[in-house]
Amino acid sequence: MVLLETLQTPSFLLWRSVVRQNCVRVLKRAEQLKVNIRPHVKTHKTLEVSKIIQEEGEGILQEGRKVVGIVASTISEMEFFAEGGHNDITYATPFHISRLDRVLALRHCLPSFVPRLMVDSVGAVEELETALAERGETGKIHLFVKLDCGYHRAGIDISEGKFDVLESVVKAIAAGKHTEFFGLYAHSGNTYNCKGGVQEAAQIADREAELSATAARYLKSLGLYPQAVGVGSTPSATAVSPLPPEITEIHPGNFVFYDLQQVDSGSCTLPDIAVGVLSRVVSVYPERNEALIDAGGTAVHKDSGGISGWGRVDGHPDLLVKRMSQEVSVIGMDPSASSVGLPIADRFSLGSMVTILPNHSCMSACQHAQYSVLEKRGDREVVDTWTPCKYW
Ligand SMILES: Cc1ncc(COP(=O)(O)O)c(C=O)c1O
Repeated sequence: MVLLETLQTPSFLLWRSVVRQNCVRVLKRAEQLKVNIRPHVKTHKTLEVSKIIQEEGEGILQEGRKVVGIVASTISEMEFFAEGGHNDITYATPFHISRLDRVLALRHCLPSFVPRLMVDSVGAVEELETALAERGETGKIHLFVKLDCGYHRAGIDISEGKFDVLESVVKAIAAGKHTEFFGLYAHSGNTYNCKGGVQEAAQIADREAELSATAARYLKSLGLYPQAVGVGSTPSATAVSPLPPEITEIHPGNFVFYDLQQVDSGSCTLPDIAVGVLSRVVSVYPERNEALIDAGGTAVHKDSGGISGWGRVDGHPDLLVKRMSQEVSVIGMDPSASSVGLPIADRFSLGSMVTILPNHSCMSACQHAQYSVLEKRGDREVVDTWTPCKYW
Protein backbone atom coordinates (compact mmCIF):
# COMPACT_ATOMS: atom_id res chain seq x y z
CA MET A 1 0.00 0.00 0.00
CA VAL A 2 1.41 3.42 -0.98
CA LEU A 3 0.63 6.18 1.49
CA LEU A 4 0.57 9.88 0.75
CA GLU A 5 3.32 10.46 3.32
CA THR A 6 5.77 8.43 1.25
CA LEU A 7 5.32 10.48 -1.93
CA GLN A 8 8.02 12.77 -3.22
CA THR A 9 6.83 16.34 -3.30
CA PRO A 10 5.63 18.09 -5.31
CA SER A 11 3.19 15.43 -6.57
CA PHE A 12 -0.05 15.83 -8.47
CA LEU A 13 -3.02 14.39 -6.57
CA LEU A 14 -6.34 13.42 -8.09
CA TRP A 15 -9.49 12.47 -6.14
CA ARG A 16 -11.14 9.89 -8.37
CA SER A 17 -14.64 10.01 -6.90
CA VAL A 18 -14.71 13.79 -7.35
CA VAL A 19 -13.69 13.42 -11.00
CA ARG A 20 -16.50 10.89 -11.51
CA GLN A 21 -19.03 13.15 -9.80
CA ASN A 22 -17.94 16.10 -12.00
CA CYS A 23 -18.30 13.96 -15.13
CA VAL A 24 -21.76 12.82 -14.06
CA ARG A 25 -22.84 16.42 -13.50
CA VAL A 26 -21.76 17.63 -16.94
CA LEU A 27 -23.17 14.55 -18.68
CA LYS A 28 -26.50 15.23 -16.97
CA ARG A 29 -26.24 18.80 -18.20
CA ALA A 30 -25.71 17.58 -21.78
CA GLU A 31 -28.73 15.32 -21.39
CA GLN A 32 -30.78 18.22 -20.02
CA LEU A 33 -29.71 20.36 -22.98
CA LYS A 34 -30.48 17.42 -25.31
CA VAL A 35 -27.10 17.43 -27.03
CA ASN A 36 -24.18 15.07 -27.55
CA ILE A 37 -20.92 15.72 -25.77
CA ARG A 38 -17.48 15.76 -27.36
CA PRO A 39 -15.29 16.31 -24.28
CA HIS A 40 -12.01 18.15 -24.59
CA VAL A 41 -9.11 16.08 -23.17
CA LYS A 42 -6.62 18.93 -22.75
CA THR A 43 -7.24 19.23 -19.00
CA HIS A 44 -6.75 15.59 -17.95
CA LYS A 45 -4.88 14.06 -20.92
CA THR A 46 -5.54 10.52 -19.61
CA LEU A 47 -7.26 7.41 -20.94
CA GLU A 48 -8.60 6.79 -17.44
CA VAL A 49 -10.65 10.00 -17.22
CA SER A 50 -11.93 9.47 -20.75
CA LYS A 51 -13.06 5.99 -19.70
CA ILE A 52 -15.01 7.43 -16.76
CA ILE A 53 -16.80 9.87 -19.09
CA GLN A 54 -17.57 7.08 -21.54
CA GLU A 55 -18.85 4.71 -18.81
CA GLU A 56 -21.04 7.31 -17.14
CA GLY A 57 -22.26 8.66 -20.48
CA GLU A 58 -23.67 5.27 -21.42
CA GLY A 59 -26.02 5.38 -18.44
CA ILE A 60 -26.90 9.08 -18.51
CA LEU A 61 -27.32 10.04 -22.17
CA GLN A 62 -30.62 8.94 -23.71
CA GLU A 63 -32.45 8.86 -27.05
CA GLY A 64 -29.32 8.18 -29.10
CA ARG A 65 -27.34 11.01 -27.55
CA LYS A 66 -23.78 10.02 -26.70
CA VAL A 67 -20.16 10.87 -26.14
CA VAL A 68 -19.48 11.37 -29.83
CA GLY A 69 -15.70 11.53 -29.70
CA ILE A 70 -13.08 13.65 -28.04
CA VAL A 71 -11.37 16.95 -28.72
CA ALA A 72 -7.59 17.31 -28.58
CA SER A 73 -5.42 20.38 -28.49
CA THR A 74 -2.12 18.79 -29.57
CA ILE A 75 -1.12 16.16 -32.09
CA SER A 76 0.49 14.14 -29.30
CA GLU A 77 -2.93 14.01 -27.60
CA MET A 78 -4.35 12.73 -30.91
CA GLU A 79 -1.65 10.07 -31.08
CA PHE A 80 -1.98 9.06 -27.44
CA PHE A 81 -5.77 8.73 -27.50
CA ALA A 82 -5.92 7.10 -30.95
CA GLU A 83 -3.39 4.50 -29.83
CA GLY A 84 -5.46 4.12 -26.65
CA GLY A 85 -8.53 3.10 -28.68
CA HIS A 86 -10.34 6.40 -29.42
CA ASN A 87 -11.29 6.60 -33.06
CA ASP A 88 -13.07 9.96 -33.37
CA ILE A 89 -10.70 12.77 -32.46
CA THR A 90 -11.07 16.44 -33.33
CA TYR A 91 -8.01 18.67 -33.36
CA ALA A 92 -9.51 21.93 -32.13
CA THR A 93 -6.91 24.48 -33.16
CA PRO A 94 -6.69 25.92 -36.69
CA PHE A 95 -4.70 23.22 -38.45
CA HIS A 96 -1.36 23.84 -40.11
CA ILE A 97 -0.14 21.39 -42.74
CA SER A 98 3.23 21.02 -40.98
CA ARG A 99 1.32 18.58 -38.71
CA LEU A 100 -0.35 16.66 -41.50
CA ASP A 101 2.07 13.76 -41.82
CA ARG A 102 1.62 12.78 -38.17
CA VAL A 103 -2.17 12.76 -38.58
CA LEU A 104 -1.95 10.74 -41.81
CA ALA A 105 0.47 8.27 -40.22
CA LEU A 106 -2.16 7.58 -37.56
CA ARG A 107 -4.89 7.22 -40.15
CA HIS A 108 -2.79 4.78 -42.14
CA CYS A 109 -1.93 2.51 -39.23
CA LEU A 110 -5.33 2.70 -37.47
CA PRO A 111 -7.98 2.14 -40.17
CA SER A 112 -10.95 2.94 -37.88
CA PHE A 113 -9.43 6.26 -36.78
CA VAL A 114 -11.35 9.33 -38.01
CA PRO A 115 -9.41 12.57 -37.54
CA ARG A 116 -11.42 15.77 -37.70
CA LEU A 117 -9.40 18.90 -38.30
CA MET A 118 -10.22 22.56 -37.83
CA VAL A 119 -9.93 25.45 -40.27
CA ASP A 120 -10.87 29.11 -40.18
CA SER A 121 -9.66 30.45 -43.52
CA VAL A 122 -9.89 29.71 -47.24
CA GLY A 123 -6.06 29.67 -47.33
CA ALA A 124 -5.93 26.81 -44.83
CA VAL A 125 -8.45 24.78 -46.85
CA GLU A 126 -6.46 25.34 -50.05
CA GLU A 127 -3.15 24.38 -48.41
CA LEU A 128 -4.71 21.25 -46.98
CA GLU A 129 -6.21 20.28 -50.34
CA THR A 130 -2.82 20.72 -52.06
CA ALA A 131 -0.94 18.82 -49.35
CA LEU A 132 -3.43 15.92 -49.40
CA ALA A 133 -3.29 15.76 -53.21
CA GLU A 134 0.55 15.76 -53.17
CA ARG A 135 0.49 12.84 -50.76
CA GLY A 136 -1.94 10.88 -52.93
CA GLU A 137 -4.51 10.61 -50.15
CA THR A 138 -7.78 9.04 -51.18
CA GLY A 139 -10.22 9.22 -48.21
CA LYS A 140 -11.57 12.69 -47.42
CA ILE A 141 -10.55 14.52 -44.23
CA HIS A 142 -13.47 15.88 -42.19
CA LEU A 143 -13.25 19.54 -41.31
CA PHE A 144 -14.85 21.57 -38.59
CA VAL A 145 -15.01 25.28 -39.34
CA LYS A 146 -14.15 27.29 -36.31
CA LEU A 147 -16.41 30.20 -35.38
CA ASP A 148 -15.51 33.26 -33.36
CA CYS A 149 -18.59 34.48 -31.52
CA GLY A 150 -16.80 37.22 -29.59
CA TYR A 151 -13.81 35.58 -27.90
CA HIS A 152 -11.44 36.82 -30.65
CA ARG A 153 -8.78 34.16 -30.20
CA ALA A 154 -9.38 31.97 -33.27
CA GLY A 155 -12.15 31.33 -35.75
CA ILE A 156 -14.15 33.23 -38.34
CA ASP A 157 -15.61 36.30 -36.71
CA ILE A 158 -19.40 36.00 -36.94
CA SER A 159 -19.95 38.13 -33.86
CA GLU A 160 -21.66 40.82 -35.98
CA GLY A 161 -23.86 38.17 -37.60
CA LYS A 162 -22.02 38.40 -40.96
CA PHE A 163 -21.49 35.09 -42.70
CA ASP A 164 -19.68 36.00 -45.96
CA VAL A 165 -16.26 34.69 -44.87
CA LEU A 166 -17.83 31.58 -43.36
CA GLU A 167 -19.68 30.96 -46.62
CA SER A 168 -16.48 31.22 -48.68
CA VAL A 169 -14.61 28.82 -46.37
CA VAL A 170 -17.41 26.23 -46.41
CA LYS A 171 -17.76 26.57 -50.19
CA ALA A 172 -13.99 26.06 -50.58
CA ILE A 173 -14.30 22.82 -48.58
CA ALA A 174 -17.33 21.71 -50.59
CA ALA A 175 -15.41 22.35 -53.81
CA GLY A 176 -12.36 20.39 -52.61
CA LYS A 177 -11.58 16.80 -53.56
CA HIS A 178 -9.86 15.80 -50.34
CA THR A 179 -11.83 17.49 -47.59
CA GLU A 180 -15.42 17.29 -46.38
CA PHE A 181 -17.40 19.88 -44.42
CA PHE A 182 -18.26 18.19 -41.12
CA GLY A 183 -19.44 20.93 -38.82
CA LEU A 184 -19.21 24.22 -36.95
CA TYR A 185 -17.31 24.66 -33.71
CA ALA A 186 -17.39 27.65 -31.36
CA HIS A 187 -15.55 27.95 -28.05
CA SER A 188 -16.64 30.86 -25.90
CA GLY A 189 -13.46 31.17 -23.84
CA ASN A 190 -14.51 34.73 -23.02
CA THR A 191 -16.84 33.21 -20.39
CA TYR A 192 -13.65 33.02 -18.30
CA ASN A 193 -13.48 36.81 -18.14
CA CYS A 194 -16.92 37.07 -16.56
CA LYS A 195 -16.74 38.72 -13.22
CA GLY A 196 -20.52 38.95 -13.14
CA GLY A 197 -20.71 35.20 -12.41
CA VAL A 198 -23.08 32.69 -13.96
CA GLN A 199 -25.54 35.31 -15.31
CA GLU A 200 -22.84 37.02 -17.38
CA ALA A 201 -21.47 33.66 -18.58
CA ALA A 202 -25.03 32.68 -19.54
CA GLN A 203 -25.38 35.79 -21.70
CA ILE A 204 -22.14 34.99 -23.56
CA ALA A 205 -23.12 31.33 -23.91
CA ASP A 206 -26.62 32.15 -25.16
CA ARG A 207 -25.21 34.56 -27.72
CA GLU A 208 -22.64 32.01 -28.90
CA ALA A 209 -25.37 29.39 -29.29
CA GLU A 210 -27.70 31.78 -31.10
CA LEU A 211 -24.99 32.98 -33.50
CA SER A 212 -23.83 29.41 -34.22
CA ALA A 213 -27.43 28.29 -34.82
CA THR A 214 -28.04 31.23 -37.16
CA ALA A 215 -24.83 30.39 -39.05
CA ALA A 216 -25.98 26.76 -39.36
CA ARG A 217 -29.39 27.84 -40.69
CA TYR A 218 -27.71 30.18 -43.17
CA LEU A 219 -25.43 27.41 -44.48
CA LYS A 220 -28.35 25.00 -44.72
CA SER A 221 -30.21 27.56 -46.83
CA LEU A 222 -27.27 27.30 -49.27
CA GLY A 223 -27.41 23.51 -49.26
CA LEU A 224 -24.30 23.23 -47.07
CA TYR A 225 -25.31 20.99 -44.19
CA PRO A 226 -23.19 20.79 -41.03
CA GLN A 227 -23.45 17.34 -39.43
CA ALA A 228 -22.33 18.74 -36.08
CA VAL A 229 -22.70 22.19 -34.51
CA GLY A 230 -20.80 22.43 -31.25
CA VAL A 231 -20.56 25.18 -28.65
CA GLY A 232 -19.28 25.71 -25.18
CA SER A 233 -16.72 25.83 -22.47
CA THR A 234 -17.04 24.66 -18.87
CA PRO A 235 -18.57 27.95 -17.62
CA SER A 236 -20.95 28.15 -20.57
CA ALA A 237 -22.00 24.48 -20.35
CA THR A 238 -22.95 25.23 -16.76
CA ALA A 239 -24.70 28.49 -17.52
CA VAL A 240 -26.39 28.19 -20.90
CA SER A 241 -30.19 28.12 -21.09
CA PRO A 242 -31.94 25.69 -23.46
CA LEU A 243 -29.97 25.42 -26.70
CA PRO A 244 -31.44 26.16 -30.14
CA PRO A 245 -32.27 22.92 -32.02
CA GLU A 246 -29.43 23.48 -34.52
CA ILE A 247 -26.84 22.93 -31.76
CA THR A 248 -25.96 19.23 -31.69
CA GLU A 249 -23.12 19.07 -29.14
CA ILE A 250 -21.08 20.70 -26.38
CA HIS A 251 -17.33 20.31 -25.89
CA PRO A 252 -16.29 21.32 -22.37
CA GLY A 253 -12.98 20.13 -20.90
CA ASN A 254 -12.02 21.68 -17.58
CA PHE A 255 -15.11 20.30 -15.79
CA VAL A 256 -13.35 17.00 -15.03
CA PHE A 257 -11.02 18.70 -12.53
CA TYR A 258 -12.40 22.23 -12.08
CA ASP A 259 -10.19 24.75 -10.24
CA LEU A 260 -10.27 28.05 -8.36
CA GLN A 261 -11.11 30.13 -11.40
CA GLN A 262 -14.14 27.90 -12.05
CA VAL A 263 -15.20 28.42 -8.42
CA ASP A 264 -14.77 32.16 -8.99
CA SER A 265 -16.90 32.07 -12.16
CA GLY A 266 -19.66 30.14 -10.38
CA SER A 267 -19.24 26.92 -12.41
CA CYS A 268 -18.58 24.81 -9.30
CA THR A 269 -17.86 24.98 -5.58
CA LEU A 270 -14.60 24.36 -3.73
CA PRO A 271 -15.31 20.66 -2.90
CA ASP A 272 -15.78 19.99 -6.64
CA ILE A 273 -12.10 20.65 -7.31
CA ALA A 274 -10.74 17.18 -8.04
CA VAL A 275 -6.99 17.80 -8.08
CA GLY A 276 -4.25 19.47 -6.08
CA VAL A 277 -0.49 19.68 -5.81
CA LEU A 278 0.89 17.91 -2.75
CA SER A 279 3.83 19.73 -1.19
CA ARG A 280 5.82 19.88 2.04
CA VAL A 281 6.47 22.79 4.33
CA VAL A 282 10.22 23.38 4.18
CA SER A 283 10.40 26.42 6.49
CA VAL A 284 8.11 28.33 8.85
CA TYR A 285 8.39 32.08 9.64
CA PRO A 286 6.35 32.87 12.78
CA GLU A 287 7.40 36.55 12.73
CA ARG A 288 5.66 37.12 9.39
CA ASN A 289 3.04 34.36 9.85
CA GLU A 290 4.12 32.62 6.63
CA ALA A 291 5.57 29.27 5.54
CA LEU A 292 7.64 28.12 2.57
CA ILE A 293 6.47 25.06 0.60
CA ASP A 294 8.33 23.00 -1.99
CA ALA A 295 5.90 23.57 -4.86
CA GLY A 296 6.44 26.58 -7.10
CA GLY A 297 5.52 27.61 -10.60
CA THR A 298 6.93 24.43 -12.15
CA ALA A 299 4.52 22.31 -10.10
CA VAL A 300 1.42 24.48 -9.63
CA HIS A 301 1.81 26.99 -12.48
CA LYS A 302 1.79 30.72 -12.04
CA ASP A 303 -1.56 31.43 -13.63
CA SER A 304 -3.53 34.17 -11.91
CA GLY A 305 -6.83 33.14 -13.52
CA GLY A 306 -7.88 36.70 -12.67
CA ILE A 307 -8.12 35.90 -8.94
CA SER A 308 -5.96 36.80 -5.97
CA GLY A 309 -3.04 34.56 -5.01
CA TRP A 310 -1.46 31.64 -6.89
CA GLY A 311 -3.56 28.89 -5.31
CA ARG A 312 -5.24 27.95 -2.04
CA VAL A 313 -4.32 25.52 0.71
CA ASP A 314 -6.83 22.66 0.80
CA GLY A 315 -8.63 22.53 4.15
CA HIS A 316 -7.38 26.00 5.20
CA PRO A 317 -9.82 28.55 3.74
CA ASP A 318 -8.00 31.47 5.39
CA LEU A 319 -4.67 30.72 3.63
CA LEU A 320 -3.43 31.74 0.23
CA VAL A 321 -0.34 31.07 -1.89
CA LYS A 322 0.89 34.65 -1.68
CA ARG A 323 4.14 34.48 -3.63
CA MET A 324 5.44 31.90 -6.07
CA SER A 325 8.94 31.26 -7.39
CA GLN A 326 10.14 28.52 -9.70
CA GLU A 327 10.40 25.69 -7.14
CA VAL A 328 8.95 27.15 -3.92
CA SER A 329 6.02 29.28 -2.79
CA VAL A 330 5.10 31.30 0.28
CA ILE A 331 1.78 30.59 1.95
CA GLY A 332 0.23 33.16 4.26
CA MET A 333 -3.03 34.61 5.48
CA ASP A 334 -5.63 35.67 2.93
CA PRO A 335 -6.38 39.31 3.86
CA SER A 336 -9.94 38.88 2.58
CA ALA A 337 -10.71 35.71 4.61
CA SER A 338 -13.97 35.99 6.54
CA SER A 339 -12.55 34.26 9.61
CA VAL A 340 -8.94 33.66 10.59
CA GLY A 341 -7.64 30.44 12.16
CA LEU A 342 -4.53 29.61 14.14
CA PRO A 343 -1.16 31.24 13.37
CA ILE A 344 0.69 29.32 10.66
CA ALA A 345 3.48 28.22 13.05
CA ASP A 346 0.81 26.52 15.19
CA ARG A 347 -0.59 24.62 12.21
CA PHE A 348 2.49 23.48 10.35
CA SER A 349 5.97 22.31 11.21
CA LEU A 350 8.88 21.27 9.01
CA GLY A 351 7.73 18.47 6.69
CA SER A 352 3.99 19.09 7.16
CA MET A 353 2.15 18.22 3.98
CA VAL A 354 -0.17 20.70 2.32
CA THR A 355 -2.19 20.37 -0.88
CA ILE A 356 -2.46 23.40 -3.12
CA LEU A 357 -5.68 23.81 -5.08
CA PRO A 358 -4.69 25.39 -8.40
CA ASN A 359 -6.09 28.51 -10.01
CA HIS A 360 -6.01 26.74 -13.39
CA SER A 361 -5.95 22.95 -13.21
CA CYS A 362 -5.14 22.40 -16.92
CA MET A 363 -1.89 24.26 -16.46
CA SER A 364 -1.01 22.47 -13.20
CA ALA A 365 -1.79 18.99 -14.50
CA CYS A 366 0.36 19.37 -17.59
CA GLN A 367 3.45 20.03 -15.46
CA HIS A 368 3.35 16.47 -14.08
CA ALA A 369 4.45 13.13 -15.54
CA GLN A 370 2.10 11.17 -13.26
CA TYR A 371 -1.05 11.68 -11.21
CA SER A 372 -1.29 9.98 -7.80
CA VAL A 373 -4.89 8.82 -7.51
CA LEU A 374 -6.80 8.79 -4.20
CA GLU A 375 -10.37 7.60 -4.01
CA LYS A 376 -11.70 10.63 -2.15
CA ARG A 377 -10.63 13.81 -0.41
CA GLY A 378 -9.01 13.13 2.94
CA ASP A 379 -7.78 9.62 1.94
CA ARG A 380 -4.12 8.79 2.55
CA GLU A 381 -3.85 5.71 0.35
CA VAL A 382 -2.69 6.10 -3.25
CA VAL A 383 -4.92 3.63 -5.10
CA ASP A 384 -3.55 4.13 -8.60
CA THR A 385 -1.10 6.09 -10.70
CA TRP A 386 -2.22 7.57 -14.02
CA THR A 387 0.12 8.66 -16.77
CA PRO A 388 -1.03 11.62 -18.87
CA CYS A 389 0.02 12.35 -22.41
CA LYS A 390 2.81 14.92 -22.58
CA TYR A 391 3.99 17.62 -24.91
CA TRP A 392 2.92 18.39 -28.46
C1 LIG B 1 -11.04 25.00 -28.61
C2 LIG B 1 -11.48 24.62 -27.25
N1 LIG B 1 -12.59 23.89 -27.12
C3 LIG B 1 -13.06 23.52 -25.90
C4 LIG B 1 -12.37 23.88 -24.76
C5 LIG B 1 -12.91 23.44 -23.42
O1 LIG B 1 -13.23 24.56 -22.64
P1 LIG B 1 -13.29 24.42 -21.04
O2 LIG B 1 -11.96 23.91 -20.61
O3 LIG B 1 -13.65 25.75 -20.53
O4 LIG B 1 -14.35 23.44 -20.76
C6 LIG B 1 -11.20 24.63 -24.86
C7 LIG B 1 -10.46 25.05 -23.67
O5 LIG B 1 -9.56 25.83 -23.68
C8 LIG B 1 -10.74 25.01 -26.14
O6 LIG B 1 -9.63 25.74 -26.30
